[in-house]
Amino acid sequence: MKNVTVIGSGTMGNGIAHVFAQNGFNVTLVDISAPALEKALATISKNLDRQVAKGTLTEQDKQDTLGRIITQTDLKTGVAAAELVVEAATENIDLKLRIFADMDTHAPENAILATNTSSISITKIAAATKRPQQVIGMHFMNPVPVMKLVEVIRGYATSDEVCSTIMRVSAELGKDPVEVNDYPGFVANRILMPMINEAIYTLYEGVSGVAEIDTVMKLGMAHPMGPLQLADFIGLDVCLSILRVMYDGFGNPKYAPCPLLVNMVTAGKLGAKSGEGFYKYTPGSKELVVAYKR
Ligand code: CAA
Repeated sequence: MKNVTVIGSGTMGNGIAHVFAQNGFNVTLVDISAPALEKALATISKNLDRQVAKGTLTEQDKQDTLGRIITQTDLKTGVAAAELVVEAATENIDLKLRIFADMDTHAPENAILATNTSSISITKIAAATKRPQQVIGMHFMNPVPVMKLVEVIRGYATSDEVCSTIMRVSAELGKDPVEVNDYPGFVANRILMPMINEAIYTLYEGVSGVAEIDTVMKLGMAHPMGPLQLADFIGLDVCLSILRVMYDGFGNPKYAPCPLLVNMVTAGKLGAKSGEGFYKYTPGSKELVVAYKR
């Protein structure tokens, strides 16, 4: 397998394109927005610079990596020669179903269609195509060039052959893939989101403050980020939407999102991407300033 198309050039899409290209795959990065594609290439270049500065890549590796990425605003042309397509568009079910129907029409018939969804059912996405046995979840973690995990999610109809190909390809990216089945939240978010939700409840009930809750988990459990900072990093809207998928999917009140999370999303406090969540974010500054006031 050599030719991979990545759909969507946001945070996850550009990270996925980066790791495929760095590991020798020819990548077509597709986005309907040409400025978004330009921004994605600039981000990939900047992230490759970090690796060059650390000595894990040479300047030549960086240039070769960038040379393996082409961009495309038209999905039909972008998937025409793909052996694998990895969809990393916005987490919206209608959008994903539409993209999968289009990919199914225009990608070669033996191409594998993967999705980086963090919560939408792979089985449901596969049902939008005529090749459900070739549809699979490839759930990368943010930041993609750094995080070792790929959660490989088998839909109801995913074939053994497709699953083993994706496990192998993930290993070729230097990742450690883990195979899981298709139930709400898969494994990563089934465990992560209740922890984040509980941290928000702890804040909401006044048990402790933002910095204190994060410090307990950083220093007490050796987490690189506290759960509230991590929620800001992931996006509070994304956390809310994943919790709702689990709440609806299992019908269990233990997944009900904390009312504070709902309120913050309604107020447009979405975390790092909106400039404010539990913390305030100033471009260029790494200082963590608490924004949430009870
Ligand atoms: N590309 C390449 N390298 C990057 C990078 C990027 N985008 N971002 C960070 N790095 C590298 C840095 O160069 C640095 O490398 P060295 O340690 O080798 O020098 C290293 O990563 C650490 O970066 P920083 O020093 O800038 O910052 P940090 O020490 O605070 O680490 C972090 C940042 C890696 C994000 C760390 O805080 C962390 O691991 N946080 C938790 C991340 C996490 O849990 N991600 C999963 C989120 S859930 C998800 O993605 C799925 C979902 O469905 C919600």
